[in-house]
Amino acid sequence: MAIHYYDAEGIFHLQSQNMSYVIQIVNGFPVHAYWGKKLGLDDSPGSFIDLSGNLSLDRLPQEYPQYGSGDFRNPAYQVRLEDGSRITELVYEGYEIRDGKPELCGLPAVYTESGEEAQTLELRLRDAYSGLVVKLSYSVFAQFDAVARSVLFENAGKQSLQLLRALSASVDLPAADYEMIYLAGAWSREAQLQRRPLGTQGGTTIESRRGNSSHQMNPFIAIASPGIGEDQGEVYGFSLVYSGNFVASAEVDSFQSTRVSLGINHFDFAWQLLPGQTFQTPEAVMVYSSEGLGGMSRTYHRMYRTRLCRGIYRDRERPVLANNWEATYFDFNTEKLVQIAQAGSELGIELLVLDDGWFGKRDNDRTSLGDWTPDLRKLPGGLGGLANEITALGLRFGLWVEPEMISPESELYCKHPDWCLHVEGRRRSEARWQLVLDYSRQEVRDYIYETLSGIFSTVPISYVKWDMNRNLTEIGSATSSPEQQTEIAHRYVLGLYELLERLTSSFPDILFESCCSGGGRFDPGMLYYMPQTWTSDNTDAVDRLKIQFGTSLVYPVSSIGAHVSAVPNHQVGRITSLKMRGDVAMSGNFGYELDLTKFTDEEKEIVKEQVAVYKKERKLVQQGDLYRLLSPFEGNETSWMFVSPNQEEALIVYFRVMAEANAPGRRLRLKGLNPDFHYEIEGTGSVMRGDRLMYQGVALPQLQGDYASVMYKIKVVHP
Ligand code: DGJ
Repeated sequence: MAIHYYDAEGIFHLQSQNMSYVIQIVNGFPVHAYWGKKLGLDDSPGSFIDLSGNLSLDRLPQEYPQYGSGDFRNPAYQVRLEDGSRITELVYEGYEIRDGKPELCGLPAVYTESGEEAQTLELRLRDAYSGLVVKLSYSVFAQFDAVARSVLFENAGKQSLQLLRALSASVDLPAADYEMIYLAGAWSREAQLQRRPLGTQGGTTIESRRGNSSHQMNPFIAIASPGIGEDQGEVYGFSLVYSGNFVASAEVDSFQSTRVSLGINHFDFAWQLLPGQTFQTPEAVMVYSSEGLGGMSRTYHRMYRTRLCRGIYRDRERPVLANNWEATYFDFNTEKLVQIAQAGSELGIELLVLDDGWFGKRDNDRTSLGDWTPDLRKLPGGLGGLANEITALGLRFGLWVEPEMISPESELYCKHPDWCLHVEGRRRSEARWQLVLDYSRQEVRDYIYETLSGIFSTVPISYVKWDMNRNLTEIGSATSSPEQQTEIAHRYVLGLYELLERLTSSFPDILFESCCSGGGRFDPGMLYYMPQTWTSDNTDAVDRLKIQFGTSLVYPVSSIGAHVSAVPNHQVGRITSLKMRGDVAMSGNFGYELDLTKFTDEEKEIVKEQVAVYKKERKLVQQGDLYRLLSPFEGNETSWMFVSPNQEEALIVYFRVMAEANAPGRRLRLKGLNPDFHYEIEGTGSVMRGDRLMYQGVALPQLQGDYASVMYKIKVVHP
């Protein structure tokens, strides 16, 4: 990995293990010259751009295009000056190359642990007329084929400026016949993989205007060569490390090139930048793979698992938990929870999570958010009493909170009716009978910090589920100036990040899991503070195949919360086998979300076995490399496997949703193994070479019934 600068040509060549990214300064503009397979270095490379060709701004591939001076495609930024004009011209002024990667002030970002892991290039641009200075930052990594980009705006002039658009990255790719791949959906139907051919002139945009990254669209797009597969084809991934309103677009222009851009959504956004002030954009993590979508995903997985997630749980095996939500909903008391914990301890469960309903007078979802004091009617011994009983059974204790919310029916709302996001004089739209606290305000965050730290420091809590169950409406703040009202959506996210930083660093021993009615905020921003996420409120094993498969396009398995729940399933009413429910949940961060006291003896034995298998294999699942074998978006079968980094072990899981009469004999072709190793298929005594397992495949058994699954463990046999 290195960044090479060629002074004569004005070329910056960023190299990682298998990838090059080249920028060339042309006519004072940073031009996007190349991104793809690694190129060798020459002493004098010559120009990457045809300087004799048409260099009009509307044709030139650019690194950070502006509006108003001849490029009519999507600009990366736009600034309003005091005179009302919206034209700026950023001209290249200089550069700096340094080892490592600096932190982004107040924002989550991938990081390095030593200077050798990455190098960072900073290009400095200036608009002479307004004094606006823009610093484009590019970090390139030794271990990952990725470039992390962000932008710093600095008002070095004398007039006040207003940012109308400030994207994190823009790349002009040299062709049009790409496929765009993204994750769309809804509550309970998250991460549905979408593929759309580009090719024809025009733009395709995905975005969130909901205040959080959303169930509807994940802040990620991939631009891929046509017909991209899991293992072959070129793909460019664009992932935004941000949890609020975002936009990602691909625009095919009239010259058959594709402008891809990504960042904070400029819809309803404007940011005042007074002289001397700076504005930092979130980070875009751009991954290149010439080995299909699988290669791209594995880069994101390794990078996000080891250099985005933080804290002591980053590298630790995650506990098997039981959550009482689908077991009891709001109807529980200490006795019931202890019974569940008792049953859990006999099954090998390690952590009991008390979900919603433990505070205020919350017998349903209409009340009490904000009143974070235990409900002594349900928990006479308080949280401490309950936690002691749970820990005495050998389980750890975890707690659900939803600290960004306030119920109008709460003591907190009586005291502070202006603490929620609202616009004075207008209706406050409730969703799930709740409003959103105004996290742009310091005193609101301080109150939540004090309240939660009071609980976390007095009760033996080792896990926290941080929920967020609605989108933002009437986005306005009582204490901000009229000019700042268009900043509140972003200030909310910055406030959330500040609070999370304080809490997670004050309580480093707590494992935090984020949740937003399931996967409504499953994004890299949240993973920086909380290494795992509740993937979806939909716990149906069949639906989960798609949700978990889609989520795995970007996010590491260690971040994907997956629980076995009761049948008929509470979301879709389907009855699936306990075996399949277990195998689906064991393909993520494993747990149970049902009443453990209700198992039959036969079910208890199955569950004990599931828990034991998961404990044995969880390192492989959580920290191994994921290979997707069969897609639930393409048929009746789904399969994936987890391979240890040294390729000596693998766990393979295969699902067949609907039974098939007189089915053909099938073989499952494995991936990611060492072709020359010999592997034993556990429990069968059969030993096969890695190449045979991958190219001929392993014979699948004839399965009976709907909702069937098999799990194989293979291990290298040393000669
Ligand atoms: C939504 C979450 O996704 C569920 O798991 C549960 O915690 C409920 N909220 C509780 O209100």
